[in-house]
Amino acid sequence: MENFRLYIPVKYYFGRGQISHLKQLCEPYESILLVYGGGSIKRNGVYDAVMNELKGKKVTECPGVEANPSVETVERGIALLKENHCALVIAAGGGSVMDAAKAICAGACWDGDVWDMVTHPKDIEKSLPLITIPTAAATGSELNSTSVISNHAQKKKNGFVSDALYPIAAIADPTYTFSVSARQTRAGAADTMSHIMEDYFKPGFDDPIADGIAEALLRTVIHALPIALKEPDNYDARADLLYASSIGIKTVTQYGKRGEWSCHGISHALTAYYGVNHGESLAIITPAWMEQVLCPDTEERFVRFGTNVFHLDHPTGQESIHALKQFFKENGLPQDLRALGVEDTSAFKTIAHELAETRDYTKTFYPLTEEDLLAILNRSEDDG
Ligand code: NZQ
Ligand code: ZN
Repeated sequence: MENFRLYIPVKYYFGRGQISHLKQLCEPYESILLVYGGGSIKRNGVYDAVMNELKGKKVTECPGVEANPSVETVERGIALLKENHCALVIAAGGGSVMDAAKAICAGACWDGDVWDMVTHPKDIEKSLPLITIPTAAATGSELNSTSVISNHAQKKKNGFVSDALYPIAAIADPTYTFSVSARQTRAGAADTMSHIMEDYFKPGFDDPIADGIAEALLRTVIHALPIALKEPDNYDARADLLYASSIGIKTVTQYGKRGEWSCHGISHALTAYYGVNHGESLAIITPAWMEQVLCPDTEERFVRFGTNVFHLDHPTGQESIHALKQFFKENGLPQDLRALGVEDTSAFKTIAHELAETRDYTKTFYPLTEEDLLAILNRSEDDG
C-alpha cells in the first residue's frame, strides 16, 4: 500500500430531510450567495426547501450556471458575491453548479485572472466557505476538493484541486435526485463508475482495501441504475447512486493507490472540442481505453474486474470489458462518439497531441503514448 493522507473536512449529511441542518450551518453568516443552474431546483422543490431554511438572511441569487461551466460564469458569480458582500456560498445543483461555486468561492479571494487560478491551483491560499446540496448523482463534487471549469476561447476544460476548495458541509438528500432525467441518470452513473474505475485501474499491485471498496461500489451502481431508470422515485436506488457518487471520487478508492487517471483527460478534451456530455463520453471512452491497453501484462487486472464486479466465471480480459460495454448498452448509454454528434474527427490528432504534451500518461495503469491516445479516440468514434 502506498503512503497517503486522509483529509475530508466536510460535514456530510445524507438522507431524506437533512436540509433541516442548513439553518444552523448558515447561522454565522448574514449575506449568502445561492448558486444554481437552469431552473431544475425551482421545479422540483429544492429551491423552496433551501429558501425556507434561509429565512431572515440576505440571499443573493446566482442562477443560470450551465453544464460544463465557463470561466465567464465564474466571473459573473464573483462579481455578484462581491457586490452583495456575501460571506457564504450555497451551491444547489449538479456537478456544474457545485464546481462553479467552488471557483467563485476561491476566485473571490484570488487577486488576478480567474483562469490563472484554475491553471495554478497550488497558489490558492484561501476560499470562502461553501455548502453543497447535490441534486444529481454523478461527480461527487459535493464531497471533494476539485472543480472543473471550461475556457471556451482556448478550447480547454481543466480540473483543478486545492484543499481550499473543500465545502464546509454537504447535504445529500436522495429525494432531490428523483427528478433527474433518465439521460442524466445514466450519464451520472457512468461518471461515478468511471471515477471508481480510474482508481481501480492504477499502476502497481492490488490493494485489498481500496480495490475491495471499489468493487463493492461498482456492484452497487450496477444494481441501482436499472432500478432508478425504471422507478425514478425509488429511494433506495437513488440513495445508492448518490452515496456511491459522493464517496466514489477522491476519497477511499484512491487511498493506497498511486498514479494518474487514464480516461478523464480524454473526456474533458472531447467536451472542450465537441461539447459532449461528460458521463456519456466516459461510457464510450472507458471500454475503448480498456481494449487499447488489454495485453498479457494487464489481463490479470481485467479478469479480476470481470470476476468481482460482473460475477463472471473465469472470464478473459476481453469478456470482462465486454460485460462493461454490455451494461452500458443495456442501460441506454451511447456506444460511440457518433451517437454524441461527433462527425468531424479532424481534431483528434490535435487532441491526442495536446493531451500527451500536457498530462503525464506514463504514470497511468498502462503508459499511453500520443499514438495510443489517438487510437483510443478512433476506437471511440464508431462502434460499427
Ligand atoms: O441546470 P439545471 O436546471 O439544474 O439542470 C441540470 C442540467 O441540465 C440537470 N439536473 C441536475 N439536477 C437535477 C437536474 N434536472 C432535474 N432534476 C434534478 N434534480 O442535469 C443537467 C446536467 O447537470 P450538470 O451539473 O452539468 O451534470 P453533472 O452533475 O454530471 O456535472 C457535470 C460537470 O461536473 C464536472 C464535469 O466535467 C462537468 O463539467 N466534473 C466534476 C468533478 C469534480 N468536481 O470532482 C469530477 C467529474 O469527473 C467531472 O469532471
Ligand atoms: Zn467524471
